[in-house]
Amino acid sequence: MLFQEADCIKAAALIKSGGIVAFPTETVYGLGADCFNEKAVAGIFAVKERPSFDPLIVHIHDMNQLDILAENMPRAARILAETFWPGPLTIVVPKKASVPDIVTAGLPNVAVRMPNNRIALELIRHSGTPIAAPSANKFGRISPTCASHVREQLGSQVEIIIDGGPCSVGIESTIVSFVDKKPLLLRPGGVPVEEIEKTIGPIGKPEMNMYTHASPGRSLRHYSPRTPVFLGATPLILPGLRKGLLTFTPEPEYVISGFLVVETLSARGDLNEAACNLFAALHRLDHKNLDVIIAKKFPDVGLGVAINDRLIRASQPKRKGMYPFSEPIRQ
Ligand code: TXA
Ligand code: MG
Repeated sequence: MLFQEADCIKAAALIKSGGIVAFPTETVYGLGADCFNEKAVAGIFAVKERPSFDPLIVHIHDMNQLDILAENMPRAARILAETFWPGPLTIVVPKKASVPDIVTAGLPNVAVRMPNNRIALELIRHSGTPIAAPSANKFGRISPTCASHVREQLGSQVEIIIDGGPCSVGIESTIVSFVDKKPLLLRPGGVPVEEIEKTIGPIGKPEMNMYTHASPGRSLRHYSPRTPVFLGATPLILPGLRKGLLTFTPEPEYVISGFLVVETLSARGDLNEAACNLFAALHRLDHKNLDVIIAKKFPDVGLGVAINDRLIRASQPKRKGMYPFSEPIRQ
């Protein structure tokens, strides 16, 4: 059943009493707790099976809450926040001493975002506290863009999952760090980098595998279906294998004929629509009992940059017994 105001009040009461709530945002569903309640935040790490070195984003509903969390904010950070909030942008800025270390994984900085989703904003407002929330999936797995994705991965462990329907952006927020002199892109996401640079000028853009230095959670393998993903233009001729295809726009018949399932993310070639459909398509492909998912690379502009980032990470090979996966590996 879709969300009603009363659900929000009930969920806020749970947050106030130290509980955990899954809730929609415009990017992906989040798994939230009172950011000042260390025990509740520890519960998020436990449910997600997330390593404690990977800090959480704190969600706020108005600008006053930013000042509870951050101090000595550079001007460019404030300009970016004022331009894109509420929206799919996260800023990393020096934290106030009162923000618990468990939230920031011991870092002196806090990641903050104001989501552009009525339910999320109401939940934070009724809770009377900023809400620390990672995406509501098991660590390393595909992010949830509707309530059923959350139920599937975390259902038995989360008391309240607020169903706000499908997420309108569908890919996580863009993260920009203001900890060093020059602003640094920690994760491409829902606000295209081009838009950010139009607002505050050029920012640093580390190579894929360098993200982890500044953002501990940006491990190379991430956003992964159980089914192995290959990224590239090759429609591999692999006889006998059950193959799925993930593409941007419709492919000609001779390309799709070798695939059992084809997911086309935007018939009209719109990268925003493609980003919105990405995770749901990966979830569907992962349910088809395929041997392999072949994903074609997207144009490297606008939200295509964030889509390629997720696909590159999803396609990193699993190594046997390798953290974070404990289940047997089919490969
Ligand atoms: O769109 C989003 O950002 C969603 C929704 C729920 O808001 N949240 C989300 O959270 O994607 P999560 O935890 O899945 O990803 C947050 C990323 C991680 O890579 C983490 O390492 C990084 O943000 N991060 C959080 N706090 C940080 C900090 N203080 N410094 C550097 N990176 C940080
Ligand atoms: Mg995540």
